[in-house]
Amino acid sequence: MIQEKRIALRNSGLINPESIDEYIQCGGYQAFAKALTMSPSDISEIIIDSGLRGRGGAGFPTGTKEKSTAQTCIECLKYIVCNADEGEPGTFKDRIIMETDPHNLIEGMLIAAWSVGASVGYIYVRGEYHLSIERLNIAIKQAEKKGFIGENILNTDFSFTLEVKPGAGSYLCGEELTLIESLEGKRGYPRIKPPFPAQKGLWDHPTLINNVETLANFAPIILYGADWYKSFGTSKSPGTKIFCLSGDVKRPGYYEVDMGITLIDLINEFGGGVNGNSIKSILIGGAAGTFASINHLNLPLDFDSLKEQGLTLGSGAVVVMNETRDLLEMLTSILDFFKHESCGKCIPCRLGTAQILNITERIQEMEPKERESTFINIIQQAEIMAKTSLCPLGQSPILPLKSLWVNFANELINKF
Ligand SMILES: Cc1cc2nc3c(=O)[nH]c(=O)nc-3n(C[C@H](O)[C@H](O)[C@H](O)COP(=O)(O)O)c2cc1C
Ligand code: SF4
Repeated sequence: MIQEKRIALRNSGLINPESIDEYIQCGGYQAFAKALTMSPSDISEIIIDSGLRGRGGAGFPTGTKEKSTAQTCIECLKYIVCNADEGEPGTFKDRIIMETDPHNLIEGMLIAAWSVGASVGYIYVRGEYHLSIERLNIAIKQAEKKGFIGENILNTDFSFTLEVKPGAGSYLCGEELTLIESLEGKRGYPRIKPPFPAQKGLWDHPTLINNVETLANFAPIILYGADWYKSFGTSKSPGTKIFCLSGDVKRPGYYEVDMGITLIDLINEFGGGVNGNSIKSILIGGAAGTFASINHLNLPLDFDSLKEQGLTLGSGAVVVMNETRDLLEMLTSILDFFKHESCGKCIPCRLGTAQILNITERIQEMEPKERESTFINIIQQAEIMAKTSLCPLGQSPILPLKSLWVNFANELINKF
């Protein structure tokens, strides 16, 4: 029997999330106190050595981003932003961290802020997450009272302020540069990359931006070391991952397990098996994710193993579909989502998302031969869109589209 391994969720359900004393009794803020005795560059070296990769979707090496933010300038004003927008469909892990252990996130932010030299922090939270917002605000006040946030923290020359900023319901505002625009009080339009936030972020200052789950790993890594962290997961994707399991499984929920767990083990050991007669497909990574088939059930769930198969881990959302599910209907709803969330700033995405949805909605009425050529045509359009769009949202529809075509062409052409 495979067990959960809780690092980011180590206190979840065990302590009162509104009590800083209970967090401290469980070793809370010890990692931050330890970090303050170390040099900022030592912290980013430990994070680099741990192999931690961003849990927001892209899997970028966390320590490398920290180091580059720290080195952009030494004495200038820097920011740290926690991306808690959690807009990817099927994803609900960051909410659990914030609701059940808000101090863990705050401690991770304090360590990261110290390592890059940031003096101001923001947590940009999905607006609908009322309980997360409430608990984070309580936790920040408590941390201020205990002297973990404020001026000359723990009698050092490190000073830091932290504030919660609720988002307003735009999926695109989870994209880091759009989030920064939104934080600046502007409309949620993306910026062109480069420059990256590490060079020119919030109000043009170097800004470290990380996902909630990424930051929730900082305190244990500093406390127990990089080698300890690397003893979990795989060599290229160390640590654990919180998977959000939903759809046709008997026990949907969030499970923190070793990176590299196989899809079938996640579904059977934690999800209690498929709800239905058999598995047809598994959508991994949310709407900007990919459709896997039963041929992938033994595939390890980590960044690189999935990539080698043309799939993506993304945010860790895993939606299981049984034999009764209509994959074309699922695809249509994803494309409808992208059309709705397209900000309209650039033409390829504004028109493209509407056009591929429009054609997909008509596929069901077509003859098999026409369906095949139509699908190939939609994929070509999505590929052009991916190459010509201004931001990653326009590059996303190709992921579910292509994976569905590669793995389910026969069903899409013949089985209606
Ligand atoms: C359209 C879009 C939406 C995104 N939404 C989120 C989100 O809700 N939460 C998140 O952490 N990252 C999201 N990201 C990824 C961020 O741009 C960024 O990569 C992430 O915050 C970096 O943190 P990490 O390195 O800790 O993963 C999104 C990206 C795109 C393109
Ligand atoms: S790709 Fe889409 S979401 Fe991104 S800027 Fe263009 S229209 Fe807006």
